Amino acid sequence: MRSSNTFETRLVDAIQPLRMFVTAAALTHLFDSGLYDELAEPKGISSLVAAGRDETRVITLLRFLVNEGYVREGRATFCLTDKGKSLSEFRGWYTMLVGGYGTTFLQLGDALRAGSPPATRNAQLVGIGSCAISHYDAIPLTRRLMARTPVPCRRLLDLGCGNALYLVEFCRECPEIVEAWGVEPDERGYNAAVEHVRISGLEHRIKLHCAGALEFLDSSFDGTPDLTVLGFVLHEILGQAGEEAVVSFLNRLITRFPELHIIVIEVDDQLTNPRVMAGGLGLAYYNAYYLFHPFTSQRLASPAFWEGVFARAGLEIVAQDTTTPDIDSTGLEVGYLLRRRAPTSR
Ligand SMILES: C[S@@+](CC[C@H](N)C(=O)[O-])C[C@H]1O[C@@H](n2cnc3c(N)ncnc32)[C@H](O)[C@@H]1O
Repeated sequence: MRSSNTFETRLVDAIQPLRMFVTAAALTHLFDSGLYDELAEPKGISSLVAAGRDETRVITLLRFLVNEGYVREGRATFCLTDKGKSLSEFRGWYTMLVGGYGTTFLQLGDALRAGSPPATRNAQLVGIGSCAISHYDAIPLTRRLMARTPVPCRRLLDLGCGNALYLVEFCRECPEIVEAWGVEPDERGYNAAVEHVRISGLEHRIKLHCAGALEFLDSSFDGTPDLTVLGFVLHEILGQAGEEAVVSFLNRLITRFPELHIIVIEVDDQLTNPRVMAGGLGLAYYNAYYLFHPFTSQRLASPAFWEGVFARAGLEIVAQDTTTPDIDSTGLEVGYLLRRRAPTSR
């Protein structure tokens, strides 16, 4: 009998992470190149290369994915398999983790050195990927928190809006939103937001600004939002400018707009909690999610930390919620509805 513990069997086991690494990269490019959408129906190679693609490289990429079970090759045609089609809801995770942070993961080694600069990331794809993920988790969570405000939102401000997906979805759903503003500091992310709003035909209701949240607050913006969303943005500001800057930013926000409600979405830092990290989504997503933060000047924190920040900024918690268990049962995503704390009466 042949031993199952040969060098080759051990090699195959040992390099499975490499196979997953390359497959994740190949799938991300399948999505981003547009090939994924084109392959919903069988396509001949001449049609796939008509848009100026290199024939040999396209065929090789597709045959790699044939071997991984995502693509089927027929008589001179290619199309997605059922396994390939089943990825369509999940492309945002690829856009964020490979498109946005792929470059970061390749720089981990250099960035380990004390005093080294942060690793780079593709902030445009971070924003686009994050919004695509939020469509399933944070946008429904925001919607539930929005429903807890005393009157429906009419003027919505999204700080760190990525490609403006929240604004587009909420403006479509809520005709009572008469004006909305999106603020995004990354220039390419801002351009993606401009394009998304244009394609959605909502330019008359959504105005976009290319700025960081702190600079935006100091600008001559003359709108009066009644609701502001900060979806996964406070931990960016915390990493960039520190705790006092976050407290002062939130305080200035409600000083400038005293009637404002604020929705904050953050992720609880539970990297060392074995109960969470051993679970399906813990290992499939959050383990990598936690990894890139300290390498890119972002600082995650616990709910207790954020609640202390809110209290110091003069805010009170109106409602608190997390994702529904069918979407994400870890409970790691925390959403707060906040408003200015009423002065205590004597
Ligand atoms: C993780 S993404 C979140 C995108 C979207 N808000 C969501 O909930 O999916 C973080 C976004 O914050 C933006 N950002 C980073 N620093 C910021 C700052 N100082 N002010 C405002 N936005 C910032 C990034 O460019 C990126 O689009």
